Amino acid sequence: MKSMKGKDQMEEMVIRIEGLSAVYGRGARQVRALQEASLAIRRGEIFGLLGPNGAGKTTLLSCVEGIHTPAAGGVWIDGIDVRRYPRVAQRKLGIQLQQTALLDDLTVAELVEVYAALYEVYLDRAAALALLARFELQDKTRSLARRLSGGQKQRLALALAVANDPEIILLDEPTAALDPRARRAVWEIIRRLHQEGRTLVITTHSMEEAEALCGRVAIIDAGRIVACDTPARLIAALDAAPVLRTQFDIPLEQVESLPGVRMVRYSGEYLEIETTRPQETLAGLQQAAVQQGRSIADIMLRQPNLEDVFLRLTGKTLAAWKES
Ligand SMILES: Nc1ncnc2c1ncn2[C@@H]1O[C@H](COP(=O)(O)OP(=O)(O)O)[C@@H](O)[C@H]1O
Ligand SMILES: [Mg+2]
Repeated sequence: MKSMKGKDQMEEMVIRIEGLSAVYGRGARQVRALQEASLAIRRGEIFGLLGPNGAGKTTLLSCVEGIHTPAAGGVWIDGIDVRRYPRVAQRKLGIQLQQTALLDDLTVAELVEVYAALYEVYLDRAAALALLARFELQDKTRSLARRLSGGQKQRLALALAVANDPEIILLDEPTAALDPRARRAVWEIIRRLHQEGRTLVITTHSMEEAEALCGRVAIIDAGRIVACDTPARLIAALDAAPVLRTQFDIPLEQVESLPGVRMVRYSGEYLEIETTRPQETLAGLQQAAVQQGRSIADIMLRQPNLEDVFLRLTGKTLAAWKES
């Protein structure tokens, strides 16, 4: 019971989201973007909101930021009701929006000034340079924002999000559309901000990213939070067997009868076989291939992951996520 919780336990929860519902539009056109979402985010954790496009991730962050007014429920930041005291709550936040239109015609140095001013923080030139150096942008101070590469823009967006030295940082798809190297650079920055003791909330539709970065993950689908825990516990709760992955083309019924097989499915162009006896299943597959005068070129054994968790909870595969 909420009222019975100890004070310490309450204080550990830096963001509290309770029964949050959000809609866009009205009447027949109304979209229910969030339905009774409840979450508690702990001080100092990297928390991930994982879900496909349209799941409600950005809407949830907008409610936390006090940008979108919920239809029901509410958000408390350090005990402050965001709806009643948005400005006070916002002062604790560093925000990176999904589409950062970085006032393209300003230089990097000018942007830092503008942002700091927005937050009512005074940054002198040395402080601004130090901030940019932390994000490896010290050589770009005179460049126009629109001339930066994707990775540099993303690092700039992160620098701006921390211009006010916030305790809580909200990042909406911080690595979307980045190449693998730029993505890793952003991961390193996120880890560093975490090591500095800040609380981070990131949204992503990448399971890999959620597993790599997040202490805890909420899985969100169609406006509802369907699970919330550490990646390891979410995966363990599945009680799933390892998965053989191959591009071999074979009728599913033929695979289902192989030893150890628990489940067979296609994930994109890959055949995925959950099996408790991978060696024997593989031998059976190879035998089937030989009978057809073919060979299996690629085969991979992987442990169950968050993708399997999502599939189990929602019936949708990763492939289905990517097309939307
Ligand atoms: N400004 C808007 N007007 C109408 N519908 C919107 C608006 N923004 C988002 N939506 C809808 O709300 C739902 C949740 O969207 P969003 O929060 O952006 O999801 P996500 O960030 O997970 O992709 C989707 O169905 C989306 O189409
Ligand atoms: Mg979004």
